[in-house]
Amino acid sequence: MPVMRLDKIIAGAGLSTRSEAKKLIRAGRVTVEGRTVEDPAAHCDSGADVRLDGRQVRWQEYLYLMMNKPAGYLSVTEDPRAPTVLELLPPELRRRNLSPAGRLDKDSEGLLILTSDGDFCHRVISPKSGVEKEYYIEVLDPFPPGAEELFRAGAVLEDGEVCLPARLEPAADRFSARVFLREGKYHQVKRMAVAAGTKVKYLKRLSVGGVALDENLGPGQYRELTAAELQKICEESDNLHK
Ligand code: URA
Repeated sequence: MPVMRLDKIIAGAGLSTRSEAKKLIRAGRVTVEGRTVEDPAAHCDSGADVRLDGRQVRWQEYLYLMMNKPAGYLSVTEDPRAPTVLELLPPELRRRNLSPAGRLDKDSEGLLILTSDGDFCHRVISPKSGVEKEYYIEVLDPFPPGAEELFRAGAVLEDGEVCLPARLEPAADRFSARVFLREGKYHQVKRMAVAAGTKVKYLKRLSVGGVALDENLGPGQYRELTAAELQKICEESDNLHK
């Protein structure tokens, strides 16, 4: 574990800004291995038992969240015209430099990963990593026969762009389906549905890299990814590089 300044450890746990952390330390509210330390510049091991008001503080270099994105929010960090997914987070998390790892459209819902780790973000998004994303969609007209083959062969979009092979699994009535992609072009699922002769009216992302949206998360709610979930996504992105 790296050795670092105590104010950085407190701020890095998402609890406060660096200047707030300094004040908390000077006020005698922070202990390291059971001893009160009042110097914000004191150095200690980031794995040490650090406590604020008796509660253990866990330093993390990066943060990884899964959110159940509701419709009506943009998957960007800032936009003056509409609310963004960051506005669903409390101030202490908004300060953590989080960005969405792959976008969902304003009217789309479901699993959105937010992270401050730029490399991880790239892994999730890059078609070279091939991390699979799973969507549930409902369409206006039933998928015509042959739509599965069109997705499998690599759909050609209305502007001539060619998609990587994907999987379409329509329900029995063909008015809804699961779609599995390993890339993320602009409005890709909606444009693939148009290429197949129908139109998406509802879209929800169900999983990324084999990690499913936690069904306990209501719209707008979020939680940290577990270490196992993080590892699963990283392993999936590594597999395709081999
Ligand atoms: N494809 C789309 O068309 N929209 C999304 O939000 C995600 C994938």
